[in-house]
Amino acid sequence: MKYQRPRGTRDIIPTESSSWQFILDTCKHYLEASNYKQLITPIFESTDLFKRSVGESTDIVNKEMYTFLDRSDRSLTLRPEATAGVMRAFIENGLHREQKPIKLWTYGPMFRYERSQTGRYRQFHQMNAEVLGDDSIACEVESIFIIKNILNTLGIEHTIEINSLGDKESKENYKNYFKDFVKDSLDKTCDDCKRRYEQNPLRMLDCKVEADQKIYADAKKPIEFLSNESKERLDSIKSILKNSVEINPNLVRGLDYYNDFVFEVKATSEILKGQSTICGGGRYNNLVEHLGGSPISGYGFAIGIERLLLVTSRTPKKNISIMVASNQPEIFSLCSELSKEDLILDIAWQPKKIGKVIEQAVKKGHDYILFYLDNEKENGTIKIKDLHSRKESDCKVSAEEIIKVLKNE
Ligand code: HAM
Repeated sequence: MKYQRPRGTRDIIPTESSSWQFILDTCKHYLEASNYKQLITPIFESTDLFKRSVGESTDIVNKEMYTFLDRSDRSLTLRPEATAGVMRAFIENGLHREQKPIKLWTYGPMFRYERSQTGRYRQFHQMNAEVLGDDSIACEVESIFIIKNILNTLGIEHTIEINSLGDKESKENYKNYFKDFVKDSLDKTCDDCKRRYEQNPLRMLDCKVEADQKIYADAKKPIEFLSNESKERLDSIKSILKNSVEINPNLVRGLDYYNDFVFEVKATSEILKGQSTICGGGRYNNLVEHLGGSPISGYGFAIGIERLLLVTSRTPKKNISIMVASNQPEIFSLCSELSKEDLILDIAWQPKKIGKVIEQAVKKGHDYILFYLDNEKENGTIKIKDLHSRKESDCKVSAEEIIKVLKNE
């Protein structure tokens, strides 16, 4: 074929789109049940916004952004994640004036130029949640409960790993320790890590090069440098969430804005292979101020929709599905009435052979056929055929009566 979808993108075809919608509805349900409100932001933002928030030392900013100059030579970037744009919108629209905590959800496509494989795409979708103005551990705990509800509804088995990077002071202490630990081996590390050493040494812990990981393996972990306050926060979270989470001291996350609590959720299914992380997030108390807003604490997470789609075992409840076979024009207004209910309708207009209509309806997965042809018109009835039991019944030509019959069955 001459035209193919760009590498790293996906089409969600009709056989998948009802599951896709079910995933979104499930996420939205649990987020809105916890008083998150929707915020919609642009798909592209100024490049500087991502450099400043996601961080110049990250792989996302260095290697993965879709950046372009528009016709007025402005540098713009297709958003690689949602948090930066949400913070920009929060500051620009004065949302800090709202009653706190301010809980926002965003959904949409994100773009990262990554090596594509199952579960890793260049355009992918996130359901993203942020809480501004709540510094208590309620954010962390509530978010884990929300995520567990979503994943349980979708039938996705998972594990949740948590860690703490520490507050500003703990992070600074760790940075100094780690720089000292690694300085004599620096010439053996990859070029990226040499750059990370100058920009943000903590990023080195996130390096994918095996030889580098061997060099860092014996280093102490950030969790060993936590201030009393950071340690108490982590302990309290763990004591509430108990065995539903486990501490992974190696977890650092791939974005620069985090402090204190971070977490990742992994699907246990084999399908995702190396891309088993279905959700990640953490606290970012300095980000809004760093972007020029008044200081306010922040916390959030994002769920990867494509990855959930690959591993979910649940499909949404199917609406009753009906084929309507008729040659009478009044059928269109009747169908229009019926479509106000939770029904799926197909119309076979002026069918030539009844047998063929039945065959088509079965193949399309309909539950019923409604006949309103010459005979039925004469009798003033609609014939309802149940395609599962093959039983037939007659009913008055009224949407209300038809619904009654279908619901009784
Ligand atoms: P992240 O860990 O970069 O965090 O992405 C969150 C989730 O998006 C991942 O766990 C994964 O499921 C999905 N994802 C990421 N990259 C890809 C990809 N190339 N293909 C398919 N799915 C992908 C963030 O983006 C943060 N903004 C989360 C956050 C919100 N932290 C605080 N607030």
